[in-house]
Parts: sequence; C-alpha cells; structure tokens
Amino acid sequence: MTFFWPSHTRESFGKTLIEASHTLHADSHFQDDGLAELLDEFPREHLGIYCFAPQSEERVEPAHGRADGISGRDLLDAVKRGHIWLNLRDASRHLVDYDNLCDDLFDQLEVASGRHIFKRDLGVLISSPNVNVQYHLDIPLVLLVQIRGRKRVWLYPTDEQFASSEHIEAISLRETEEDLPFQAGFDAHAKVVDLEPGMAITWPQAAPHRVQNADVLNVSLSCEFMTLPALIHANAIHANAILRRKAGWHPRRPDGVTPGTLAKAGLSRMMKLVHRPAGTPNPAPQFVVDPDAETGVRLL
Ligand SMILES: [Fe+2]
Repeated sequence: MTFFWPSHTRESFGKTLIEASHTLHADSHFQDDGLAELLDEFPREHLGIYCFAPQSEERVEPAHGRADGISGRDLLDAVKRGHIWLNLRDASRHLVDYDNLCDDLFDQLEVASGRHIFKRDLGVLISSPNVNVQYHLDIPLVLLVQIRGRKRVWLYPTDEQFASSEHIEAISLRETEEDLPFQAGFDAHAKVVDLEPGMAITWPQAAPHRVQNADVLNVSLSCEFMTLPALIHANAIHANAILRRKAGWHPRRPDGVTPGTLAKAGLSRMMKLVHRPAGTPNPAPQFVVDPDAETGVRLL
C-alpha cells in the first residue's frame, strides 16, 4: 500500500486542505467478500450504526441502531439497499490487519509531513448510497481515505462564524455529539471536494465539514491522529471549556502554540487527571438492521 503526498505537504500540513492519492482501493480486503468478513470479525458491540437526517438548518440528532445476530454478509446487503452509516471505530485496535495498515499509513504520513504522529486511530466507514453526515467537526486531526464509491465533502473555515468557541468546547467536554448548527449560507465559503476511490484528504484541525454520498455504496477509512501542536490545541480548548464553566471567564480561542495555549494545555492535563470525563453513554437504539425489511432497517 502506497500513499502519494504532494510536495507541499510539509509546509501546508495542518494549515490547508491537502489532497493525496493511494493504492488501497485495489486491495481485496475492501471487496464484498472482504467487507463481509470484516463485519463478522469486528466486535459487534463496538460497531456504530447510525441513520442521519438530511442536512438542514435544524439540528437533528442521528438515530442509533443495533445489528445483533446478523451475518456480515446480510449486514453489508442491508447497507447497500438502505440508508445506514456503519462506523467500525478503532478497527486498528481490534484487528491485527488493520493495526498493520494503521502503522503503515501513518508512518508514510510522518515522512511526508515531517511531523511526529501519535494517538493513531484507524476506523472503517461503510455507508449506504445517498447517505449524508451532518455538519460537524472533529477535535483530532483527520485523514479521510476514499476506497469505494464517491462522496462530496464540504469543508468550512475554522472561524468563530462557522463554529463558535462555546460549541467547540462543548464537543471537547463531550457534552454534545460532534454536530454543529448549520446555515445554508455557509456553503458559499466552503471548499468542495468530490472524493473518488484512490483519493484521500486531510484538513486543518477542528475545521467543520459535512459529507454527502453519491448514489453508490461507500467505503472509506476515517483516520484520526494528533501531532504535538494539535494535542496542545485540543487541550487548550478543553481548558477554555473549564475556565468558561467553572470560573466564568470568556477565554480567547487558542491560536497556535503560544505561552498562553501551553499554560492552558497544562491546566487541562491537570484537570483531566483530577476529573476524567465520563464519555458519551451508549444511547438506546432506535432501530435494528433487518435483512428482511425492504429498507434494511426496522424501527423500534
Ligand atoms: Fe468528521
């Protein structure tokens, strides 16, 4: 497996959208037999199963589903004809093949970017034709690798206008899922990328984005990671969240590695040692995957 990173990767990394190419789409692991096997091997209790409402200015929480006692093949067939989004989170932690792939992929990114990369996490996304993922942001850095199907990604600036500090801090504290209020007017400021098999993109940390699948099954890798400046930034956001809530401050959004962000990152580290966030509880399922249902799902 080889990634081809553009020559400006080192200077652009973390600052702008970067497009790379790769050879993973030729790997048999990602054909139907390989995906069915993957879905059988991946611990089902860790599988994220969602239905997302179409993108609108209204904030609609995704519906959570279950798929107990269903073969990987039947689950894949339900995804092909339904409106389902599967997230095989931390596949690199659960499956040795994906652990090796994770190492290989991030080792190549380290060379291309000139950065040390840690907190490496590789997940697999298998999603139905026409599914969309609503406007949201991720606190870690992300590399999105397109393997099968086509999808359109809208990527928005990291300014306050597109995601307020209060919202980013709430995501950092895991008070909410990662979705954000959206306005149709934001699209005029978005960079739009049409991802095809063999393409991959990475973007600035915590940049809001949304995704729309074309009318075809999609398989992508969602690879999350940290560099040292990204970790300091994430911890400074977390510290701001605490200062705003506990001390009534109105902290400034962190911008780069400054003495202020370093001090906040240190505070955040201390607070995490004292008070570990409980994490988002597993919500009750609202639907189950049903291979016999026309839409592939049955509402509970
Ligand atoms: Fe994302």
